[in-house]
Parts: sequence; structure tokens; C-alpha cells
Amino acid sequence: MKATAVAHANIALVKYWGKRDEALILPEAGSLSLALDRLQTTTTVELGGDRDSFSLDGRDAAPEEFLRARALLNAAGISQRARIESRNDFPTGAGLASSASGFAALAKAATAAAGLALDDLALSRLARLGSGSAARSVPGGWAVWEDEAARQVFPESHWDVRMVVALCAQGRKKTGSRDGMRATRETSPYHEAWIAQCQQDLPRALRYLGAKDLGLLGALAERNALRMHADALAADPPLIYWEPATIGCLKALQQLREDSIQAFATIDAGPHVVALCEARDAALVGKALGTVGGVRDVLICAPAGGARLL
Ligand code: DP6
Repeated sequence: MKATAVAHANIALVKYWGKRDEALILPEAGSLSLALDRLQTTTTVELGGDRDSFSLDGRDAAPEEFLRARALLNAAGISQRARIESRNDFPTGAGLASSASGFAALAKAATAAAGLALDDLALSRLARLGSGSAARSVPGGWAVWEDEAARQVFPESHWDVRMVVALCAQGRKKTGSRDGMRATRETSPYHEAWIAQCQQDLPRALRYLGAKDLGLLGALAERNALRMHADALAADPPLIYWEPATIGCLKALQQLREDSIQAFATIDAGPHVVALCEARDAALVGKALGTVGGVRDVLICAPAGGARLL
């Protein structure tokens, strides 16, 4: 009746920003991500107590997170009360995809605690009900999510790249992805163009990924992220996720490319910049981002696999 699972957060290179079904959490367009080794959540679920509890990094989870976790358990047919204890080894709710690793680990641990044997597709479908991007953290590696479940398209061993995470602010962001993408979809005049862009980008990105062409994949990912933010900036009221350090990092990466170092940015619904580069360049890229004013920390991450039991 008790199980512990680990899952890694993932960063999308073709982003998910818009739902075609709000209740079922189905995306308007497909997305592609890589799971990252140093962004990890560990979750223990124990079933059979007399009430539900959910602690996140040692504190009671927010009511919304609590409800989402209960909904996930209900969807798995788990009606017993659950004690959930979850720990992130990276800043929670700051736009580092903690909900992705969190719900993937929860789906894995809860179903194991209940003695259910779900395959990765069924687990991904379940994790999606907690958070869309969590669907991609179940298979891990390079994952594509288009419909009910995400699937791994290449294992983490396919390509030894690095993602260098530059932390550009502290604390929680004001507008989470859920509300942000809904507002964008409802009010941005550019949203249709954004979705059409993703539909073009995904098959191209998969070709570049298959060929391990960093220059083409990185440039596409950077454009895709900037266009997602262009869509969000065009919402009413506007969604401005960036901090001054975010722009500083974008410029620093531009400078690196002028100096012939291949490093490309992506940015989720938050201020942090994640740079995609070759493993051999990661230390240099980390150093360049670390000297940008306002950057608090830099984390060099390697590709990781899917959710697993401990
Ligand atoms: C910008 O998966 O957090 O990180 O499905 O509403 O829970 P919900 O949203 P969430 O959104 C992630 C948005 C993103 C892009 C991405 O990861 O693809």
C-alpha cells in the first residue's frame, strides 16, 4: 500500500501552449520535449489512512494542487485515502516544469501503491490529467505528446546534449501555465498562427533530432519559444513572463553563437532561460549565462529517462 517513484521534469523544444479540450487536458498541437536529469521529483504515496494529505517540499500543497492530485487518483480508480509526500530538488512553481515531474511521479507511485500494473501509455494518460506536460515525463527521454498519451521517440541515450538552466528569478510566478494558456487562447489575436506554427515545427524538429543537427534543432526551438511568448505577450491583459535577466541570457546566447558556440534558448511560462548545447560546450555556456546580471544560479542538465519506482 506504499510506493515511491521518481520522475524528471522535461523542457519542450516545440511547446504546448493551448488546449483543445480544457476538461480532458488535450493539446491543440503536438509538442516535443527532453527529460532532464537534475530536475527531479521524488514522491511517496501511502494508501489506506483516514484522510487525504499532500505535502510538497515539507509544506501542505496548495488547494488546487491537492484537488488535481485527488482527481488523478480518482481517475485511476483509487478511492482509498492517500498520504502523498513529494519533494522537488529544484525551485517549485518558478516555471521549471515542477508539475510535469510531480504528476508523473504521483501517477507512478499511486498506481504502484494500489497494486495496479499500468503500461507507460496508460500511465502517461493518467499523468496528463494532473498536468498536460506531465504526460511527457512518464516516458522520459525525447518525448512527443499529441493526443491522450505521450510516447518516447528517442531514448535519452540518443544524443548526449546538455540543457543549461539559468535561473532568472526566485519564487513562484504570478500566472501559472494553466491560466496563462487559457487566457492566451481566449484573447491573443496571434493564437491561431501560433498553433499553425507548432504543427509545422513538430515534424521538422523530429527530422533534425533524428539527424542530431543541433544548429537546425536549436534554431527551431528558440524560434518556437519566442513565438509562444509573442502569443502570450499579445494576450489581454498581456502575459509578461520575462525578467531583465531573461533578455540578458538571450543576448548572451546570441553572442556565443557569434563566437561559433552552438547554444540556443528555450523559455517556459516563466523567466528562466534553458540553453540547448553540445555536452563539450556546456561548461562554457554555463559560465556565460552565470555572468549575466540577475542570474541566480546555473544548472547543467543531461538527458534523463522516464518515471520509475524506487
Ligand atoms: C510553457 O503542462 O503546466 O511549459 O496542462 O494546464 O497543467 P497544464 O499546463 P502545463 O503547461 C506547460 C506549458 C509550457 C510548455 C511545455 O511544457 O510544453
